[in-house]
Amino acid sequence: MNEVGEVLFLLVGKLLVGLLVVAWWAVLYPMFSLPVAAAVALGWWQGWPYGVAAGVAVVGCWVVWRVRWPVSFERWVTGRIRQRYWKWFRYSSRWIKVMAMNRLTAELDTKVITPYLFSARIGRVVDVLEVGLPYGQKVETWEARSEELRHSFRAVGVRVRHAVSGRVRLEVIHTDILRKPIPLPRTVVDARSVDLEAVPIGMTQLGNPWRVALLGTHVMVAGATGSGKGSVVWSVIAGLGPRIAEGSAVVFLLDPKAGVEFGAGMDWFDKFAYDNGKGALELLRETARVMIRRMNRMRRASRKLIPSVKEPLIVLIVDEFASLTEYFSDKRIRDEIQRLLGLILTMARAAGVVVIGCLQDPSKEVMRLRQLFPTRVGLRLSEATQVAMVFGPTGRDRGALCDLIPHTTPGVGYVQITPGVDTEAIGDNESEEQVAEIERVRAYYVTDDDIRWIMATYPRPRRYTGDQVPGGAAPVDLDEHLYPEGRDGKGKGYNE
Ligand SMILES: Nc1ncnc2c1ncn2[C@@H]1O[C@H](COP(=O)(O)OP(=O)(O)OP(=O)(O)O)[C@@H](O)[C@H]1O
Ligand SMILES: [Mg+2]
Repeated sequence: MNEVGEVLFLLVGKLLVGLLVVAWWAVLYPMFSLPVAAAVALGWWQGWPYGVAAGVAVVGCWVVWRVRWPVSFERWVTGRIRQRYWKWFRYSSRWIKVMAMNRLTAELDTKVITPYLFSARIGRVVDVLEVGLPYGQKVETWEARSEELRHSFRAVGVRVRHAVSGRVRLEVIHTDILRKPIPLPRTVVDARSVDLEAVPIGMTQLGNPWRVALLGTHVMVAGATGSGKGSVVWSVIAGLGPRIAEGSAVVFLLDPKAGVEFGAGMDWFDKFAYDNGKGALELLRETARVMIRRMNRMRRASRKLIPSVKEPLIVLIVDEFASLTEYFSDKRIRDEIQRLLGLILTMARAAGVVVIGCLQDPSKEVMRLRQLFPTRVGLRLSEATQVAMVFGPTGRDRGALCDLIPHTTPGVGYVQITPGVDTEAIGDNESEEQVAEIERVRAYYVTDDDIRWIMATYPRPRRYTGDQVPGGAAPVDLDEHLYPEGRDGKGKGYNE
């Protein structure tokens, strides 16, 4: 008898809790609960056929709402329920366990203090959690656990961000939208609306456009063979298309691999060299001359160069950077190329020249120039050590997992933008490099057909032969800049 009483007591308790939960849900989701309550009340008052009729009417209204105004239906009815369900399913239901097993709880006397989950905003691609930090923790404590948290939440990635004091923000990326290729959008815009400091060349893992600044920076693209360096380069070219057609941007291309990859655009580029000998040397010399003339003019007018049809932005693309600096047998040419690259990379920012350097194997030798590239893209790399050569020693800890990118997703990579980098002071940028944010991205997939479309849509108005301003063709003594101590002097060069 006593036992039966206990069971009954438990059952009633459970029933009460259940009722309370239902009542609480009814309060939380009035768009759902009010019509249902109204139908039940009507049925009870007027007889069940009325109740059923009202129920059918309610469902009909929902269907019409859903079909006619899906956005508002999602916002008022299903969206809120979904938010709550996913928050519970992904986070609340296992929160205490996840915190404890990742050693993020704290202990005071005999009490265990679990970080408080303030909110979880469920998104299509990423969920944003706001968590209270127990005393004694800092954001970096969580940063160091991001990989463990990623596995705990079964997520694609976890990013730890600073929030207001006492809190940490977690961005849990649960859907990999970069798994499928992203086609090159074929929308033609006005040249004026191409922002040279934000050219879209792909998508970030959060679904935003991946934009790169071209004016005032240099871009390094490192990746093993077949990792998609070509698609990054072609995406940049496509983004600049309207400017190229207008004449306010010109492309110089240096393709030491005998022009296989970019040969199709041979006549379309303003300058094109496809060997790693005389042609490459001449192209670099010409770029340096244009730059020095610009610097001389600017010194006189004391202004910054704003690319225009008369003084266009020069995009110097070097496919396979290493072959230029490494594989030359002739030491004199190699030396001159080194000096030219050093000169171009340090001076170009102010002179409206941007270098896009592709690299298959980021070795130490090449990487002496690394810090001259404020924007770096690391696609698939074969070894973890190469990540450090692209992004610096902390790169991999900050999330650049280039060596884990599968072969099946060419064009996927990580990008680091170091905003404050000073290309004129190599070696002073280490601290900037330590904190710069790294973002996972995928470049547009540019097919051969897209390349034909780019070239047909954006023909250049004329071949670039020099700036169309007074002094645009003034003679320049390159040696004076390359060898300040004379050609055979023993003085210091640019890269030593
Ligand atoms: N963004 C992308 N999205 C989808 N597929 C891509 C993308 N980029 C490249 N691919 C595919 O991968 C192949 C190799 O790409 P790509 O030629 O750009 O590599 P690469 O890094 O330039 O290689 P290499 O060093 O050999 O020149 C392409 O033929 C293409 O099919
Ligand atoms: Mg290539």
